[in-house]
Amino acid sequence: MAVESKFDPKDMVFRHLGPTGLKVSIFSLGGWLTYGGTQKGDIVKECIQKAFDHGCNFFDTAEVYANGQSEIEMGRALNELGYPRDEYVISTKIFFGTGRKEPNTRGLSKKHVIEGLKSSLKRLNHDYVDIVLAHRPDNATPMKEIVEGFTQAIRNLNLAYYWGTSEWSATQIMEATQIAEKYNLIAPIAEQPQYNAFHRQRFEVEFAPLYDQFKYGTTIWSPLASGLLTGKYNDGIPEDSRFATNKDFFENTVKQLKSPEGQAKIEKVRKLTTVAEKLGGTVTQLSLAWAAKNPNVSTVILGATKVEQLEDNFGALKLLEKLTPEIMEEIEKILDNKPAGPATYGRDR
Ligand SMILES: NC(=O)c1ccc[n+]([C@@H]2O[C@H](COP(=O)([O-])OP(=O)(O)OC[C@H]3O[C@@H](n4cnc5c(N)ncnc54)[C@H](OP(=O)(O)O)[C@@H]3O)[C@@H](O)[C@H]2O)c1
Repeated sequence: MAVESKFDPKDMVFRHLGPTGLKVSIFSLGGWLTYGGTQKGDIVKECIQKAFDHGCNFFDTAEVYANGQSEIEMGRALNELGYPRDEYVISTKIFFGTGRKEPNTRGLSKKHVIEGLKSSLKRLNHDYVDIVLAHRPDNATPMKEIVEGFTQAIRNLNLAYYWGTSEWSATQIMEATQIAEKYNLIAPIAEQPQYNAFHRQRFEVEFAPLYDQFKYGTTIWSPLASGLLTGKYNDGIPEDSRFATNKDFFENTVKQLKSPEGQAKIEKVRKLTTVAEKLGGTVTQLSLAWAAKNPNVSTVILGATKVEQLEDNFGALKLLEKLTPEIMEEIEKILDNKPAGPATYGRDR
């Protein structure tokens, strides 16, 4: 029987995920702190549906998000929405466990990579994820064992198609890639790093050789710096905002916002708002479009507690078209934080 397609890409842009043939929407949706955390039930389904209706085909979660509850909520929502499995991509991440104390229920030992992923799949109620990510590097496990664990999960157990890294250094990613080549194992294909207008160094400088040498992909997180780049924190902390609903976690961030450096960031958000308005958009859309504009970004993972936020965020597609070199230069002047690359001694390419 023919499968009824539910997917309409609308004006979505798709990019290959690193060196693979897999195509992901430039804006994707993740569940950190939100789905299974502050948001449960219908709202999760409504947000996923809103994203899918805008042409988003990629959803990200992790074993640690709300101690497994994010995988349960997102998996349930996707199953209830009944999208054909070949019309969407899911990633989950293994490392931090789900809050249990046993020593083998976290880290990147072969045991936890495989057993952790099997448990994630049970919570998601899915047969496989498309991508499994090592949520952090694990200094206590030999790199060869880590690469073998992910290879086994993919090659022998069909639990995933690809694997990637999150908040690994370029050196660690290169080591994993070289080990994979040497021992005929599977190499990681993408990194999930933080990247936004206030957090640029590692993405733009340290990882540059990875893009050149391996076409390494990126699924970037906190593109709005947890909401700072929406302007919602310009005049204090709104009651139902992330910095209030996750008060302990963001205690230092809120303190930092009151410092001269924090106030300087807010001043930049105000100036970016003027640029966004000139282009007929919001500062949220401008910040998301700015991240998506970087060709080394495979997908920008959105986070949202409300359907209306997603409606706003997908408006970034329109602004993306308006980011001319002149506007990018204007933004660069406001940000005034372009990371310096390594010295080239006149040998630029
Ligand atoms: N690999 C990692 O270590 C790692 C770490 C963090 C995140 N991630 C992934 O990246 C995803 C996105 O990260 P993130 O959630 O930090 O992204 P973000 O876009 O920087 O922040 C999202 C938060 O900003 C607020 N927001 C979003 N759109 C808004 C709008 N239009 N107007 C007003 N407020 C808006 C919402 O918070 P409130 O409504 O609550 O205020 C929302 O929860 C996560 O879900 C996760 O999948 C990965």
